[in-house]
Amino acid sequence: MLIQILTLFPQMFTGVLESSILKRAQEQNLVKFELINFRDFATDKHHMVDDTPYGGGSGMVLKPEPIFRALQYAHQQNRQQTERGKAKVILLTPQGKVFKQEIARELATAEGLIMICGHYEGFDERIRSWVDLELSIGDYVLTGGEPAAMVVSDAVVRLIPGVLGSSESAQHDSFSEYLLDFPQYTRPVEFEGMRVPDILLSGHHAMIEAWRREQALIRTAKRRPDLLENAPMSEEDLKILKAIGELNNG
Ligand code: ADE
Repeated sequence: MLIQILTLFPQMFTGVLESSILKRAQEQNLVKFELINFRDFATDKHHMVDDTPYGGGSGMVLKPEPIFRALQYAHQQNRQQTERGKAKVILLTPQGKVFKQEIARELATAEGLIMICGHYEGFDERIRSWVDLELSIGDYVLTGGEPAAMVVSDAVVRLIPGVLGSSESAQHDSFSEYLLDFPQYTRPVEFEGMRVPDILLSGHHAMIEAWRREQALIRTAKRRPDLLENAPMSEEDLKILKAIGELNNG
């Protein structure tokens, strides 16, 4: 996959792209990142990327030309470097569709992604006409789209086949995607008066699996009941949830 990021602050990405799994994925040629500073595509000698809004008001607005030209360059690079040459263009904005695991899964099948990071107070509305998808990473306002592009990149890249090793991806089946994680423990057995649950020390794998599933269901029902609507459920799961429901109702 080729991920191209249009940003005025490419240096913000260095730590994220040069560490951990994103670094390894690039080394294994499973993903390539290209940071494109759209200031380099400004048409005037001062490399202006923003201007005052028509109609007045405070703040500056990102101009359309530098982003248009940077996008043309990105598409051209994408055509040269990928088989199908069809990149999906994503604009990071708090006005976009809220980013979810389901969207990450869909984007992970793309051959190329071009992400545009807005900055300052806003961008010229015409930029929207070159975009396939607008994404928000949550209901809060960031100073720019860069952290959002990092979040989306991270969530997508880990889903590209081969990026996670088999032990890392084992957890990441359809169940755990819809449920919150069960509680995990490691040594020591007792710390500060808190003990690891006996079941985890029992060596009964089937019982441990059942306990983990139950804990994940309980935790999800308590903290994020909205997630349960889409979770695939067995008869046993429904029984557990019914039992929790009965507990909660008194
Ligand atoms: N830019 C500013 N805030 C944002 C958000 N919450 N998501 C995506 N892009 C943004």
